[in-house]
Amino acid sequence: MTDQAPPLAFPADFLWGAATAAYQIEGAADEDGRTPSIWDTFSRTPGRVRNGDTGDIATDHYHRYRDDVALMAELGLPAYRFSLSWPRIRPGGSGSANKAGLDFYDRLVDELLAHGIAPVATLYHWDLPQELEDAGGWTARITADRFAEYAALAAGRLGDRIATWTTLNEPWCSAFLGYGSGVHAPGRADPAAALTAHHHLLLAHGLAVGALRAELPPTARVSLTLNLAAVRPLTDDPADREAARRIDGLANRIFLDPVFHGRYPADVLADTAHVTDWSFVRDGDLAEISRPLDSLGINYYTPTVVAADDPAGPAPRQDGHGGGERSAWPADHGIRFLPAEGERTAMGWPVDAEGLYELLTRLRDELPGLPLLVTENGAAYDDYSDPSGAVHDPERIAYLHAHLTAVHRAIAAGVPVRGYFLWSLLDNFEWAYGYGKRFGMVHVDFASQRRTPKDSARWYAEVVRSGTLRPPV
Ligand code: FCB
Repeated sequence: MTDQAPPLAFPADFLWGAATAAYQIEGAADEDGRTPSIWDTFSRTPGRVRNGDTGDIATDHYHRYRDDVALMAELGLPAYRFSLSWPRIRPGGSGSANKAGLDFYDRLVDELLAHGIAPVATLYHWDLPQELEDAGGWTARITADRFAEYAALAAGRLGDRIATWTTLNEPWCSAFLGYGSGVHAPGRADPAAALTAHHHLLLAHGLAVGALRAELPPTARVSLTLNLAAVRPLTDDPADREAARRIDGLANRIFLDPVFHGRYPADVLADTAHVTDWSFVRDGDLAEISRPLDSLGINYYTPTVVAADDPAGPAPRQDGHGGGERSAWPADHGIRFLPAEGERTAMGWPVDAEGLYELLTRLRDELPGLPLLVTENGAAYDDYSDPSGAVHDPERIAYLHAHLTAVHRAIAAGVPVRGYFLWSLLDNFEWAYGYGKRFGMVHVDFASQRRTPKDSARWYAEVVRSGTLRPPV
């Protein structure tokens, strides 16, 4: 019975926060010199995003950021993870910085600091300037250089006030959903392009780490956020375990090995040899990619269960953000993706907090001593504002309680988890799902832009205030 569980105390210096991303909340798509990103183009293309939704207005955060910061302060959030918009800061992706774009983040950061909220900035949460995509996007090596230049511009202006910087958010999604299955912008479906994009994203990360270190004070922390997968074979059968090895390679080791050990895993190179010869990897790239980091961000929602193919039928896809006709995974032939058992969120994602514990303890063992941050965790449910104006979301509270319990267990097991950021502060533009999926702890009425903290926001505020997790009542 959960109501008999003892309260769980988190470390006093644990960093609590909530997360968002620029394209999902800002709106003001054409204002103050911002140019289109691949998500503007993609969402304005009929058939790409449910309901034809776009981020043109989103939650109008660009104009309402003061109110949103006040709301965070009211909820007592000590930290806020957000992303900077590349096409706002450097329209077109190259050339000089856009002063008006940098001014917006300057105001936002000052507003956060004035309320005692620590800004945690991500440089790339998927909004590549369209001009760079027109020149090849992440399949073009030059995009990595452009990214490092943009990182330097952003850090030059904001680095005196932002202590924690993240280069990329979930490069797996950028490469494999953007160029593999095509369910995300730019909507290309080509496995060789996905692997090329993957490498250039990692190169961009490495070059940006160097650029950030050159600009930032030595006390600044530089990180990367990955959506690593808690991969499980359906059974202990060797064929299922082989499927799990392959997906572990393409979801996890294809990132962890180059970033932390300066090499690509031999089995992944072999598994994908029929897709590409990897000749886009040049001498010196892996040394760039493996520059030391101060922490690693983990985004976790649900585990990944795989099995050997069922010869009786086509492989069902479970790619997280929207399926699609084509697989996101290069070289996944012979693999089935199955939903884990049990309760599901509105995304159809099974609720399984054990996967988070598995991932965190694995990272403790594989990367001893590296501080970890849970940079995203949360759930979508079909929330609505009831006639009294309240938004009751007991399922989200239960989800958060279970996952924070897993984080607490991991800390007790010696995992250096330093913080947790709830996804998301606000209901927002959920990529290919548009506004149909609500991840916020604050409800947004998109017609009026009215914000209403859900029950989960009040519950989370109390966890943050007390530093203690109590069973939901
Ligand atoms: C993550 C993304 C975030 C949001 C959540 C639900 O993969 O980083 O923007 O879409 O999923």
